[in-house]
Amino acid sequence: MAVYVLVLVAILCLLCLLSTALLRWNDMRYRKKGLPPGTMGWPIFGETTEFLKHGPNFMKNQRARYGSFFKSHILGCPTMVSMDHEINRYILMNEAKGLVPGYPQSMLDILGKCNIAAVHGSTHRYMRGALLSLVSPTMIRDQHLPKIDHFIRSHLRNWGSTTIDIQEKTKEMALLSSLKQIAGIESGPMSDEFMPEFFKLVLGTLSLPIDLPWTNYRHGLQARKNIVRMLRKLIEERRVSMETQDHKDMLSCLMSSGEYRQKLTDDEVIDQIITILYSGYETISTTSMMAVKYLHDNPKVLQQLRAEHFEVRGRKNLEDPIEWEDLKSMKFTRAVIFETSRLATIVNGVLRKTTQDMELNGFLIPKGWRIYVYTREMNYNPYLYPDTFAFNPWRWLDQSVEVMNNNMMFGAGTRQCPGKELGIAEISIFLHYFVTRYRWEEVGGNELMKFPRVEARHGLHIRVEQLNE
Ligand code: HEM
Repeated sequence: MAVYVLVLVAILCLLCLLSTALLRWNDMRYRKKGLPPGTMGWPIFGETTEFLKHGPNFMKNQRARYGSFFKSHILGCPTMVSMDHEINRYILMNEAKGLVPGYPQSMLDILGKCNIAAVHGSTHRYMRGALLSLVSPTMIRDQHLPKIDHFIRSHLRNWGSTTIDIQEKTKEMALLSSLKQIAGIESGPMSDEFMPEFFKLVLGTLSLPIDLPWTNYRHGLQARKNIVRMLRKLIEERRVSMETQDHKDMLSCLMSSGEYRQKLTDDEVIDQIITILYSGYETISTTSMMAVKYLHDNPKVLQQLRAEHFEVRGRKNLEDPIEWEDLKSMKFTRAVIFETSRLATIVNGVLRKTTQDMELNGFLIPKGWRIYVYTREMNYNPYLYPDTFAFNPWRWLDQSVEVMNNNMMFGAGTRQCPGKELGIAEISIFLHYFVTRYRWEEVGGNELMKFPRVEARHGLHIRVEQLNE
């Protein structure tokens, strides 16, 4: 017996020694002069497991040991993590100095080579210009708002006296509403065919780029092919109908040459549409879902929000749509959306990569390294947001907080979110119809994951009742 124990102890000691040696060896490989401090974890896997499992705590522990600027190896790449607000701002402002988007290969492959995250310099400026012209305040007011209102009003019909998964409903809402804004596509055969393909595409962008039949990556590539086929057909049909009809939607804008910009190719139009769908999908749906959650948990906030929306309704007939002036008057709603974005941290950070060796904050960052501009901690800074973990939309009512606190919830610099106001408009209209029509209770057993993305693992189930029941 004693012999067995001795052998077991010896094996354990050997394993410990081997692990330490491997970790040491991997660290040594990256001990180039001038690199920032930090650890690189295991060969190939790096510190991905710790990062995904312990997320924010892993980041805080590393910061406590190495400062706000440290190296690691996550998601398959040597990575610099920056938790310093000033450096983060510098990185986002200086794409021209070689700090370009560094999103994973799977995302670039599946979203397409003309996707906005895949292009830099003058191509980015021209693609971004085309996109900005689609989401300008005038376009939101005249074209998108009536469509969003019409869609959400009917999407929220008949939810009374039922239990729904609000995560699923807000996801459908975000996608179907975008399809309507892009090409006037209503819920029906085309959206039924499109939706499952789009969900596969999204999953594929967050996978390892291993092209084998059963992988999410392969399914994502396949879904892209199917979506491209559907969009190409849509473009062909539109080209014919544009000769006789004046369409007022994003597709017809993308297909025509603007006053100050050249005409996009069909491939560029397709990738722009995929970009718009992809960028607005998870951000809008998750913010809407989390707003429902926080409003449920904070009755005083819900009360004030309802009052704002009943006041808007009071100025209108029952079936009148929400218009631009109504939207502008929803100050408390805007504050609720910002507070939801902050407290839930819908976006933890953004990714960049270096196109050449460069010096940053006194350290060397080798060419091709990824930089994780980690902005999450800014949202929980007690100097900027006293009583940090309270859901307190009132803190945003002073509009200067939105600007002064330099929050990066919508990014910053040359890649700052162009869809910010469109996203806020859509969530505001969702909240309008939801809180004026319904009261709701959470059904137990909902489990929320906050990292690496905000997600209700098995859905967020709520029991909904018509307000006047
Ligand atoms: C609550 C809603 C939203 C949030 C929180 C959000 C957040 C962000 C963030 C943080 C970025 C910066 C990414 C980076 O620097 O790499 C970004 C970029 C972007 N967003 Fe949004 N977004 C939202 C809604 C939308 C919507 C509705 C659209 C659709 C038009 C959109 C389109 C884009 C695009 C195209 C970019 C890339 C811009 C570029 O590379 O120049 N977003 N968004």
